[in-house]
Amino acid sequence: MRNALILICSGLLLCTACDDKEKAAPPATAASSQAPAASAKAEAPKPAAAPAASAAPAPKVELEIASVGDTMAFDKTKLTVPAGSEVHLRFKNNGKQEVMQHNWVLVNPGKEAAVAAEGLAKAPTAGYLVPGPDVLAFAPITKPGETSEVTFKAPAPGAYPYICTYPGHYILMHGVLTVTP
Ligand code: CU
Repeated sequence: MRNALILICSGLLLCTACDDKEKAAPPATAASSQAPAASAKAEAPKPAAAPAASAAPAPKVELEIASVGDTMAFDKTKLTVPAGSEVHLRFKNNGKQEVMQHNWVLVNPGKEAAVAAEGLAKAPTAGYLVPGPDVLAFAPITKPGETSEVTFKAPAPGAYPYICTYPGHYILMHGVLTVTP
């Protein structure tokens, strides 16, 4: 019985030895046949680089402005942008009192009072503003702690007033955006 087992075991050993020799080759060929595919993947052409910005686009300008605490004032009374630029302005209301609501409205020179009066007549639901030809851009009414924004194209060179049209604010709450040539 023991002899039989030894015979079987040695037979198995021999067979596995044979198998090992026969099986040694195929994996190598398999590996070499896969190699080209792998390298082809690595060499896959990347998408063409972004087109060169040869045709100069309009310069982009980021502006930040805020109200000063619970007062009727902008923290900046002067802003400057180049003519034709794409302006992105963010307005932050730093007030805490609920009545301290503000907007930022860019108007044609000399039209502050008229635009403010028109907005006053329109009242809250319209955001105290009537968008018309003298309103060049605006960030809407913003509650305390909130931020609003607007993107617009800078107008022709000149000095343009910006105001808050919340009732009673515009006389105190204003500044000038200078557009340079
Ligand atoms: Cu205001």
